[in-house]
Amino acid sequence: MLDVRVYGDPVLRKRGAVVTVFDDKLRLLVKEMIETMVEEDGVGLAAPQVGESLQLAVIDATGGEKPPIVLINPEFTYHSEETATNEEGCLSLPGITLKVTRPVFVSVKAQDEFGNVFNIENADGLLARALQHETDHLNGLMIVDHVSPLQRKMLSGKLKKMAER
Ligand code: NI
Repeated sequence: MLDVRVYGDPVLRKRGAVVTVFDDKLRLLVKEMIETMVEEDGVGLAAPQVGESLQLAVIDATGGEKPPIVLINPEFTYHSEETATNEEGCLSLPGITLKVTRPVFVSVKAQDEFGNVFNIENADGLLARALQHETDHLNGLMIVDHVSPLQRKMLSGKLKKMAER
């Protein structure tokens, strides 16, 4: 299992590099990320969370019913105006859940681990939320960046402790 980086690790704040080489090394990383996501009971895991600064994430919003989605170099092609607020957690912020407001529907264009381009049209529910949460990680963003300054202030003690570990 891969080591999941926690808040305070600078790799979580870097924008991941675009993936240009789709080789066995990449596919091994994908396989290990999926295993780690399953082991940690996560809905998604982004490469920066395992110390790899790349535009790569894996998602399973079905509780293991469908094969995980491998999301490489994702780009949103649609965001709905309509938003929804829901609790989100993050493997890099253990013990913290926050209410995050995001568009309800999104469409995304991405590549799989072989470089094939695919589209996810009008995703909603947990999948839409996971697509946005994981893509945030690829841009150096985390759920704490979505809450009000007051909420962040209330969290600052916990975050400081986390960053000092
Ligand atoms: Ni996360």
